Amino acid sequence: MRLDKYLSDCGIDTRSKCKKYIRQGRVLVNDILITDEAFHVRDEDSVVFDQKPIKLQKQLYLMFHKPAGCVCALSDSMHKTVLDYFPSEIKKRLLIVGRLDKDTEGLLFLTDDGAFVHHLMAPKKHVEKSYYFCARGHLCDEACDMVASGMDIGDETPTKPATLKILRTDADQILGVLSITEGRYHQVKRMMKVLGVEVTYLKRISIGKIRLDDNLSAGEFRALTDKELELLNYHQREK
Ligand code: URA
Repeated sequence: MRLDKYLSDCGIDTRSKCKKYIRQGRVLVNDILITDEAFHVRDEDSVVFDQKPIKLQKQLYLMFHKPAGCVCALSDSMHKTVLDYFPSEIKKRLLIVGRLDKDTEGLLFLTDDGAFVHHLMAPKKHVEKSYYFCARGHLCDEACDMVASGMDIGDETPTKPATLKILRTDADQILGVLSITEGRYHQVKRMMKVLGVEVTYLKRISIGKIRLDDNLSAGEFRALTDKELELLNYHQREK
């Protein structure tokens, strides 16, 4: 396969941007700098882009830093969607793993592998998701215990035991991290409301053992590494 197609199939960027990256000397094949976009890559070749090894996977597993202001939907007539941040070459194939509110930013996975979505989203899997928040108001004294034992937030059943860590409390602002294993509608905001405060900023910082990569600015994405897929206990059917 041509090198520019190889990079774009790996989810690096659009085909034309990948050609540019190759010409800029950002790609090594078997430790040799290749600047010819038409170079033929074989299955056994090792390809490195910007010092990071990449591997062609038949399926895509992407980490995205969702910015606030876009919705987690495949299409929306009113709002920008997360898919607007992806090149058209791969966007048609992508599924969004879970949902974040329009005003929430942070870690989101996208894939074209339905089994991966199920692996992370099935309620029985109890994958922990952590959210950094800023909130306004006065947090009730028993907040951490209430979160730990499960709370009534107006649903049929109480929330599953979760963890609240307070990082800082100022006169009228609380910063902390709430880790939950469910994904109910507006769950973090609703839990915090019952605890007496209103969330003013929310960012998902981890899913299972995977933390949002600090090198990804809002709106950027990269492929999940094999190591990260392993940490998610996911064993792909195909590579
Ligand atoms: N909980 C919320 O309230 N909003 C999100 O976007 C995610 C979790």
